[in-house]
Amino acid sequence: MSTIEEDVRRGLTAHPKDIPPKWFYDDRGSSLFDEITRLPEYYPTRCERAILEARAPEISRRTNADTLVELGSGTSDKSRVLLDGMRDTGTLRRFVPFDVSKQTLHDAAAAIEREYAGIDVQPVVGDFTLDLESIPRGGRRLVAFLGGTIGNLLPDARSVFLRDVAAMLGRDDYFLLGTDLVKDVARLEAAYDDGQGVTAEFNKNVLNVINRELDADFVVHAFEHVAVFDAEREWIEMRLRSTRAQTVRVRALQLKVEFAAGEEMRTEVSAKFTRGRVERELRAAGMELVEWWTDADGDFALSLARRRTGKGVVPGKASYRERRRTGKGVVPGKASYRGNRPTGK
Ligand code: AVJ
Repeated sequence: MSTIEEDVRRGLTAHPKDIPPKWFYDDRGSSLFDEITRLPEYYPTRCERAILEARAPEISRRTNADTLVELGSGTSDKSRVLLDGMRDTGTLRRFVPFDVSKQTLHDAAAAIEREYAGIDVQPVVGDFTLDLESIPRGGRRLVAFLGGTIGNLLPDARSVFLRDVAAMLGRDDYFLLGTDLVKDVARLEAAYDDGQGVTAEFNKNVLNVINRELDADFVVHAFEHVAVFDAEREWIEMRLRSTRAQTVRVRALQLKVEFAAGEEMRTEVSAKFTRGRVERELRAAGMELVEWWTDADGDFALSLARRRTGKGVVPGKASYRERRRTGKGVVPGKASYRGNRPTGK
């Protein structure tokens, strides 16, 4: 897994500058994200929960899964809806929460063990772009990746990730994927630029993280929050715009970085999908879509997929070792967004 040192050095010396979204989530960032999920403008969490609640029994019957693997499980909030479904159909045996945060994982695992009598909880610490191979095998597994987090991966990293998922699936396993959907631009942008400014705080907090972790001196209030929908790429981009020309020092990296007035640095891509895109990307990765569920308004989707078998399908091969050794293959590609040109110079 890339370190904050590596990511910040690469990102702040790149043109245009960028910081990968994974560094949002320190304690404050995690609690700000929690707050975001309850904002009136931020519909994805509510929509996904509604779909899960409506479909959990069906998902459980359809997959006959005895194991729930949840990638990026966090507090395992939504896992409970799926676990309940599996308990009700009498198939539930095992829960494998998978997360980068050891503490979050440990707390969630303990809570689930208490709440579900007889369940076997096998937590795995890892980064879903690198460590899928450490997930225990056996049984009939439902591998869930919820929340629309897949949208944070740029297209190349996304296709690598989906291939890795396909490679870990056995014949009886299923993949459950949550994706936010393309919709009216005003609603999309409002979801990432709420009236209370919580998302703006969340975005700027990444500068606090860098200040603390890398002994940097970002003046947080000298940056403003930007959220725009790129209609061509079908993704939301969050950026931080420097309100004036300024120099930032990152002491731990012995790095001095210049920002022009109006210069924008990308902090997140959040891709929005259509059914066609999900179907094509799953297929390209060696999976097939077997069910597609949305909420009543069609704002968010859950896809159920399995490994594609049959003629002409060559099982994918994950290449984590090579990636871990070289650190290549999952780093964000060269950022090339529009509207990032420094102004006022
Ligand atoms: C947690 C990645 C799904 O992209 O919508 C929320 C993060 N960023 N508001 C998303 C986020 C700004 C969120 N994910």
